[in-house]
Amino acid sequence: MKFFKALACATAVAAVALSSTVASAAGYPERSITMIVPFSAGGPTDTVSRLVAEAMSKDLGQQIIIENVGGAGGTLGAGRVANAEPDGYTVLLHHIGMATSATLYRKLAYDTLKSFEYVGLVTDVPMTIVARKDMEAKDLKGLIDYAKTHKDTVTVANAGIGAASHLCGMLFMSAIQTALVTVPYKGTGPAMTDLLGGQVDIMCDQTTNTTKQIQGGTIKAYAVTSPKRLDVLKDVPTAVEAGLAGFEVGIWHGIYAPKGTPAAVTERLSKALKVALKDPNVAARFAELGTAPSPEADATPAALKAKLESEIARWKPVIQSAGQYAD
Ligand code: MLT
Repeated sequence: MKFFKALACATAVAAVALSSTVASAAGYPERSITMIVPFSAGGPTDTVSRLVAEAMSKDLGQQIIIENVGGAGGTLGAGRVANAEPDGYTVLLHHIGMATSATLYRKLAYDTLKSFEYVGLVTDVPMTIVARKDMEAKDLKGLIDYAKTHKDTVTVANAGIGAASHLCGMLFMSAIQTALVTVPYKGTGPAMTDLLGGQVDIMCDQTTNTTKQIQGGTIKAYAVTSPKRLDVLKDVPTAVEAGLAGFEVGIWHGIYAPKGTPAAVTERLSKALKVALKDPNVAARFAELGTAPSPEADATPAALKAKLESEIARWKPVIQSAGQYAD
């Protein structure tokens, strides 16, 4: 008899828990939401996040507050969200680093494919190979020659192992078969400050952080990593045009929630994301910065899940052949 009483009690507790989750999902969101950006303020991920969060907030009727948690190539911020309450009030906006870090890091504070729920894809941002404005090289070939002949002193900025800038820098060094001196930052926002000041020589960073500086002549651009030239940087050749065969990389961004976040919540967030990506201001700002919103069909949990899984598989052999890991 005791067993059935215990079972009835457990069932009642589970029913209350479920109903409160469903109820909370039904009224969601009832308060502001924290969006963790796993890089420093002022960088490309921060720029994308603030634009999208502002537009999503309008649809949700609650403020999305950005919190920058930089460090370890974005994995510290991702770990914060993986271990947050799965109630829909903490989300993560991260990029390709979610996929590359799964291979780059021998141990993470989370399981990339088991610790998150998915909201949707946000945008796919091209990168630019840039240098301090007084860099002597006139073109990418000249920059490569300069890097090879000064390999022990040329510095390449990145935002830590797992960052997009790290991935692009790694691909660049593999392509020119030369290891350069890398300088890690907590984001390419602070790295850009040093590039503008000439304290660091080269960086591969997203157009969302470099377009205005290139247009203003405060840094030098040598290539874009997109398949075609960009309207906002018409004079900058693609890396393939400039001689780096196959050198194409796009930095896709997605929004995640902690595992266990109710599907009704992630679906509501996905709806707000779709509205945000159709916001004319978001589309205009993205265009000015060399990128574009993801298509509506990609702003879904299923699309982000598929993208993350395929990108982990795509980059694993590339990273293993480059032999760069973080312990
Ligand atoms: C940033 O937002 O600082 C960048 O995404 C860092 C990186 O991934 O290179």
